[in-house]
Amino acid sequence: MQAEAPREAGSFRPLPEGFLPSNCTYSEQDWPVLARQWFPVCRADDALARPRQVVVLGLRLVVYRMPDGIRVGRDMCPHRGLPLSGGRIEGGELVCAYHGLRFGSDGQCTKVPEKLAPKTADCFSVTMFPAIERHGLVWTCLIPEEGTEVPDGTPDSPFKLSSEYFAESMIFEFRDGSGIVEPENHQSLRNLGLSEYQRLLSGIGFGSETSPLPSSAA
Ligand code: FES
Repeated sequence: MQAEAPREAGSFRPLPEGFLPSNCTYSEQDWPVLARQWFPVCRADDALARPRQVVVLGLRLVVYRMPDGIRVGRDMCPHRGLPLSGGRIEGGELVCAYHGLRFGSDGQCTKVPEKLAPKTADCFSVTMFPAIERHGLVWTCLIPEEGTEVPDGTPDSPFKLSSEYFAESMIFEFRDGSGIVEPENHQSLRNLGLSEYQRLLSGIGFGSETSPLPSSAA
């Protein structure tokens, strides 16, 4: 199958070298390998009227729509570490619900409320990840590298994205013939290796007339 050209990609600010999410269920060896792969985080046509939290490989992300496309960032405000998914989109900016810091499309803070002086906007930026639209989904990669790409879909595959996948607070999961497979909770996938990831993703069904992707309300 011919890969579609990416239709949108956000600028990104990388995670620190050697990063591992706290309480991570993956091994120190597996996590950075998987984090270099691409994972779907929402449907490309999701309205995303409010920021949404998704969890990929144990890392909480915030997904939101800006005037110039969908953005994916770490769901952690750089001010006090509270979730940005509790905030709102206003005037083309992401606004933190707690003390009102505002962030532009690239994750850089654009305004700090007066009550937080002498802190200035340059002090704060959100860790951002790339967002690429492909197969009707938005994909992100936690440690993007040249050469790793969004996988192609194979519509005849037994693997389908489950309806729960697009729930408001999402855990990365797949459904096979025997039910939902959640890397977070499923022992056999807890230490999901690169070959297993490739086997699963190479087999994802990206929806068809008989088995469309479920709609998301938000
Ligand atoms: S925690 Fe976000 S502005 Fe304070």
